[in-house]
Amino acid sequence: MKQTRRATAVVGHTLAHDSAELHVQGAAAYVDDIREPEGLVHVYPGFAREAALGAITSLNLAPVRAAPGVIAVLTARDIPGVNDCSPSVGGDPILADGAIIYHGQPIFAVVAHTREAARRAARLAKVVVAAETPAVTVEDALARKTKDVGEPYAFIRRDAARAVASAPQRLSESFRIGGQEHFYLEGQVSLAVPEEQGGMMLHCSTQHPSEVQHLVAHMLHVPSARVTVECRRMGGAFGGKESQAAQWACLAALAAHVTGRPAKCRLDRDEDMMMTGKRHDFRVDYAVGFDRRGRILGVDADLLARCGCSADLSNAICDRAMFHADNAYFYPAARIATRRLRTHTVSNTAFRGFGGPQGVVFAERMMEAIAILTRRDPLDVRKANLYGPRRNVTPYGMKVEDNIAPDIIARLEKSSDYRARRKAIEAFNAESRVLRKGLSLTPVKFGISFTLTHLNQAGALVHVYTDGSVHLNHGGTEMGQGLYTKVAQVVAEEFGIDAEAVRITATTTGKVPNTSATAASSGADLNGMAAKQAAATIRTRLTEFAARHWKVPRGRIRFADGKVKIGNRSVSFGELARLAHMARVSLSATGFYATPKIAWDRARAKGRPFFYFAYGAACSEVLIDTLTGEMKVTRADLLHDVGLSLNPGLDIGQVEGGFVQGMGWLTTEELVYDAAGRLRTHAPSTYKIPCASDVPADFRVALFESRGNKEDTIYRSKAVGEPPLMLGVSVWTAVFDAIAGLAPGRIPQLDAPATPEAILRAVRAMTA
Ligand code: MTE
Ligand code: MOS
Repeated sequence: MKQTRRATAVVGHTLAHDSAELHVQGAAAYVDDIREPEGLVHVYPGFAREAALGAITSLNLAPVRAAPGVIAVLTARDIPGVNDCSPSVGGDPILADGAIIYHGQPIFAVVAHTREAARRAARLAKVVVAAETPAVTVEDALARKTKDVGEPYAFIRRDAARAVASAPQRLSESFRIGGQEHFYLEGQVSLAVPEEQGGMMLHCSTQHPSEVQHLVAHMLHVPSARVTVECRRMGGAFGGKESQAAQWACLAALAAHVTGRPAKCRLDRDEDMMMTGKRHDFRVDYAVGFDRRGRILGVDADLLARCGCSADLSNAICDRAMFHADNAYFYPAARIATRRLRTHTVSNTAFRGFGGPQGVVFAERMMEAIAILTRRDPLDVRKANLYGPRRNVTPYGMKVEDNIAPDIIARLEKSSDYRARRKAIEAFNAESRVLRKGLSLTPVKFGISFTLTHLNQAGALVHVYTDGSVHLNHGGTEMGQGLYTKVAQVVAEEFGIDAEAVRITATTTGKVPNTSATAASSGADLNGMAAKQAAATIRTRLTEFAARHWKVPRGRIRFADGKVKIGNRSVSFGELARLAHMARVSLSATGFYATPKIAWDRARAKGRPFFYFAYGAACSEVLIDTLTGEMKVTRADLLHDVGLSLNPGLDIGQVEGGFVQGMGWLTTEELVYDAAGRLRTHAPSTYKIPCASDVPADFRVALFESRGNKEDTIYRSKAVGEPPLMLGVSVWTAVFDAIAGLAPGRIPQLDAPATPEAILRAVRAMTA
């Protein structure tokens, strides 16, 4: 990868993930690997096996209490403080109190000597529920008028309905976008250790240690300062541990509080899948009006989100679906509306892209459909609709000032040989009845910042010891994305030392307080800046000390290669630290960063919610079997913009992983709930995530040659965690394209995910 970069010694270089060796050796310690403390007990939640909704009329826990190894059985009544672990407006009881609102909801928790004993005993409860029929689908929620988990919300530009009605060509249709299970390899887990004077120490696999701290404190009815939450790393999170790690932390803390012993709660895969929320599935009803070239004149869309039983993060997620329903396209007139529907299923939650991907799938399906109706190449329709110099204001009133989508698309069109392959595919399909090919090139434009403005802040704490070694701590969490490595690079750069000289330490609420979740892809943007600031403070003190000590102008002091040049003299970084300490100079500093420029007025739906946009594009080619519905991605070319990369190796990893995860969401991963509200796909036997063999055999991944983020971000880099997931949309639209080729002029009836069954149904509908 070639990038124009200023001379930096550590930043911008490919360094292996700081735990790479530990990962492959199995030596990286996750919460369940922490040496178990003396007297540890295990906690396991119990639920009503059949019912999903209704009052609990009788709860007989005697058989549970009598089971071997059981120490205690906890219910809502054992909670000293608040029985709620909601990240927002409430409605998420830690243990159900009187009634259940979804199948799998924890009603009690068994505390036992072993995890196995707790798990087995949990099944012995006799729970009687006055079962009611749950609202499971979008249609159920609409028909039964369940109370929405949040107010409907819309972005409105001009009169969209009129723009559609008066357009030369129109289309209106409805389709579905499925949800997604996070399938983090390390499931939800927390270890709580009671401390003196009512203190509680938690080791928790969470993206949001501060929120877990506050929720545990509220649950125990103690001040937040009594609770400490620490996380060294997660074995994947993907949004699933942004809000929903808290419940299991609360159960562990409750058990520790009641028994006075350390307590661990780790869910099994099946229960993890049943008891934790997923990506929101949507029904999208829309109408679009366009001209003969496929240029959009008006869009009128209703995005109906299935939020599950509570608000959780659904309101922000639905907002982000709206923020990305334009993807990279200009809508001259638009009504982008959402409903936040309540169903009696587990509460859906954050998932990589945070609703954005659902908006993007909508925009890209619309492009495919318009292409079919105007008989143009879908890429040409996309290009005709991209934001441009005079068409640069989003439906929420933000000006797109850094639009590089046209450039990225043009480059990828060339490097992927799109036009020649289009012709080759047409020729192939003309000769092939059973096996059919499809091709699609789709862009991504993803807004970077939390749309809740106050969350865009971060803190860091840096210590330099007298031997020159550095201790780094910040509010961000490590979930595999490489955040710790990137922030260590930033600190090493500041001191002119090797990244290995920076000791990366576990995120803890005791060192950096009141942090935001590591989410919205902003981990490196925020914590990188905060850590840089902390290190710069210490460096400035060292510089001033050296200038005084050796009587050299400050401008002649340089930090590089583990040394400090002071005029003509050179001392090691460690020697300078030692001398500064002897002169009573503080070698410890905090840093703080708050994203500039952003301001979002949600009530008026106007402002600048995002600091900048991250862009990318992908071109995917698929082969489908029209007799079996099987599908294979034969080639994928990705070009993704990370500004000036902090670490190209890690960024490529995020791009590849994001693409494959997006592809899995839209092709093989299918969540099936039965009419009784029970999730039928709660194990890898029935829920299929992509595996190594599903990665395209021909996979060409590149970072866009950027001159750097237009905005002043950390070393002009861009966030990379979520945006590449939406590159996977090109696989779904390529399947759409392959099916469309069967009957020119007709729009395939294909929902997401495009499982073999869905492909087969769509193929049959086309050829019927
Ligand atoms: N990469 C790995 N390996 N594991 C993860 O759990 N989570 C994603 C993304 N990449 C995830 C990941 C999500 S949902 C987000 S928001 C970002 O990482 C968070 O990290 P960042 O802000 O440091 O990019
Ligand atoms: Mo990521 S969905 O913002 O945790």
